[in-house]
Amino acid sequence: MLVTLSEILKDANERHYAVGAFNCLSQENVMGALEAAEELRSPIILQLAEVQFPEAPMEMMAPLYLKAAKRSSVPVCVHLDHGQSLETCVRAIRLGFTSVMFDGAALPFDENVAASREVTRIAKAAGVDVEAELGKVGNSGVDTADVFTDVDEAVRFVGSTGIDALAVAIGNLHGHYVHTPQLNIQRLIEIHEACDRLPLVLHGGSGTSEADFKACIHNGICKINVATAIQRGIMKRIGERLSQKPDEEYVPLKQVMIDASREVIAAHMRLFESEGRA
Ligand code: 13P
Repeated sequence: MLVTLSEILKDANERHYAVGAFNCLSQENVMGALEAAEELRSPIILQLAEVQFPEAPMEMMAPLYLKAAKRSSVPVCVHLDHGQSLETCVRAIRLGFTSVMFDGAALPFDENVAASREVTRIAKAAGVDVEAELGKVGNSGVDTADVFTDVDEAVRFVGSTGIDALAVAIGNLHGHYVHTPQLNIQRLIEIHEACDRLPLVLHGGSGTSEADFKACIHNGICKINVATAIQRGIMKRIGERLSQKPDEEYVPLKQVMIDASREVIAAHMRLFESEGRA
């Protein structure tokens, strides 16, 4: 069933687990994701980031996400990840997404507040929830992610924007980590307490250690974004399958992709302790 972000995160926030938000770029990805969610009776967030639109156009993916959500027996939120402008957020709202992320983290604080507040005002009028980001989650190999979310700024940001969930920077990075990161859990605890236990979001889930995942979900993180690990899992499985019988005329790769998506996503759901919550 299709639900909003705040609906899906409420129980996770109260009972200290996280709902996985999985970036899905194909029909096979979406099918594998929903199979994992239903097998494990787990809530799930399907999401697509604006930087992924060239590979997976939002207008083409939206009907697929929404159909999968509506026919599913578990709660599914359909979410825009890293919307870069108000216009992109409005496009997602019109397509039926139940939540949008506006990413103004690269903006000066006051501009991020103003833009996030405007997105929230419009989204709320349409019954859509909003995630925003404060502090900079860098890209692995590019940034050093030394710009953690500041606690006092987080309080002012949440109070001035009315958002439903806040993405924090606590040492996490997008992409494939060169070294396993060490997250700043103390900062996470301080932000969660200071922001009246607002649901917090961890970006850059791929490659995080099990210990850090557990510390996060027990201290305020209730949404964890995973993208790279899914695509790497699919690549690996396709490579293995193709090398089994190199002379085969036709290799049914769709099923390989569905199975790889399901396995990677199910493994993350177990780590995030969302199994059996739907
Ligand atoms: P990873 O690619 O590191 O899993 O990050 C995903 C993400 O944060 C999407 O917003």
